[in-house]
Amino acid sequence: MRQEERRWWKEAVIYQIYPRSFQDTDGDGVGDLNGITKRLAYLQYLGVDAIWLCPIYASPNDDNGYDVSDYRAILPQFGTMADFERLLSEAHARGIRVLMDLVLNHTSDEHPWFVASRANRENPYRDYYIWRDPVEGKTPNNWGSCFTGPAWEWDEATGQYYLHIYSRKMPDLNWENPAVRQEIAEVARFWLDKGVDGFRLDSVNTLGKESYRDAEVFPGELYGWIWPVVSNLPRTNEHLRALRQAAFTDPDVVIVGETGGVSTKLARRYCEGEERALDMCLSFDHVVAGLSDDRWADPRFCLPELRAALDRWQTDLQGHCWHALYLSNHDRPRPVSRFGDDRPLFRERSAKMLATLLHMMRGTPFIYQGEELGMTNAYFERMEDYRDIGALNEWKQYALGGLVPPQDVLLRHARLNRDNARTPMQWSDGPNAGFSEGTPWIRVNGNYRAVNAEAQLKDENSALHYFRRLIALRHACPVIVYGEYRPLLADDPNVYAFERRLGEAMLTVLCNFRDRTVLCSPMDTEREILISNYDTHLSGQLRPYEATVLASGPVSSAHSKCMNEK
Ligand code: NOJ
Repeated sequence: MRQEERRWWKEAVIYQIYPRSFQDTDGDGVGDLNGITKRLAYLQYLGVDAIWLCPIYASPNDDNGYDVSDYRAILPQFGTMADFERLLSEAHARGIRVLMDLVLNHTSDEHPWFVASRANRENPYRDYYIWRDPVEGKTPNNWGSCFTGPAWEWDEATGQYYLHIYSRKMPDLNWENPAVRQEIAEVARFWLDKGVDGFRLDSVNTLGKESYRDAEVFPGELYGWIWPVVSNLPRTNEHLRALRQAAFTDPDVVIVGETGGVSTKLARRYCEGEERALDMCLSFDHVVAGLSDDRWADPRFCLPELRAALDRWQTDLQGHCWHALYLSNHDRPRPVSRFGDDRPLFRERSAKMLATLLHMMRGTPFIYQGEELGMTNAYFERMEDYRDIGALNEWKQYALGGLVPPQDVLLRHARLNRDNARTPMQWSDGPNAGFSEGTPWIRVNGNYRAVNAEAQLKDENSALHYFRRLIALRHACPVIVYGEYRPLLADDPNVYAFERRLGEAMLTVLCNFRDRTVLCSPMDTEREILISNYDTHLSGQLRPYEATVLASGPVSSAHSKCMNEK
């Protein structure tokens, strides 16, 4: 295999922060930038190399900041630009890099560009967005918004529809307009000039819209599913490459693209070679494993589907390009609830197992806040507890609209809704889990007395300490970063197994996805154990949710540590 090019972001672990739910310091129930600064010592102790901040820009918060009304201003609830600058410099002082979330596909309808755009058809900003005439008195096509309802909104004053793939308050920017491309490049340079170290580019898969044909309507749905029509088209790649040339020329600036619907072939187009548009993609195949096109169907957990997705990404990309590894983010249910087992008996063990799986793969691991504690779904039982615009819209359309029994809508969201990941970070067993002295903007998960950082910091066997060890191992073992990936036990119904090899160094990673002991022939107690979530082991078997990494050859090297000293 070709020698990997070394980069800080390949050797790094990136920690994702949802500022609204991380740490409140002013008692308004909403997390803030000073809260993040306050918790930098914790992040340094955990050992992460970088943080990615979900949007902190001025926003009316229709979609919690993904609807930006000013790209150069901080949301007052989060603090001030001075607070941001202090956070950035204190993070850097601790050796932690900072990535911003850049929203490129759309703005808020309250952004001055859109306010001007909708003022009249002759306005120079009209063409910053996507406006269309009605077709036979109806919307220009059958596209549905990702947050339910049509993707087109009628503007009475100017007599046209505008496109919004997300909420009607999030109009899509027109990337065919060079002025839009230039504006966004200037925004990126503004933040780079402040010293940020990279970006997670939001929803970039839909930037380059080439066709406005109708999309397939799945049974039981009212509108067309747009993803296959608009995602990851060649035009998107062209726009992203041009953006890279215009704004991201420093090779140390890392660019991570959120590319819904991307295949491994298209990911290689984005991420391969010197001229690449992105350094890595956030892909979706593995997080939708077990889900069906029917939104009301029971989500199945199915190891073969998860393994098929992860294996495909591991094997197709190696030798070609880099990849972002994640099981958790602010848009997904908690992984221990979705892929592990959040019953008290197995929660911690299965959280460690999932962490082992992810951190031992080839790519850059992302930890989403609270994942390191094994935080679980909140399983809200009442619609009033939800804040997610998608959940509220679905409730209106399907439950209140009489299309689906309300309990089915509630059940789906309890299992899969992204608010499960947005409940406040569980810092302690004190009031509101130590997140806020006010009333949190969203309910705290009821299990915070048992699951919190303060308790886990004191417990060497906690999930938190296990994550620390995984991160430290990455920094010490080049095989974890650069080793070749090879699947093992491809058809095993219980165990996900693979190998990593770099020169003479070899790891065998064994993860039991069952709540019972299973047979596993590669489990060899004679070999050195690099890390495991059990203290004792049985040859040829794995205990419930056991994860064990066996090592041979020279797996650790002091040399690789130098790369992480900033
Ligand atoms: C992806 C973000 O992760 C999600 O939270 C948001 O709702 C959409 N993009 C729209 O910006």
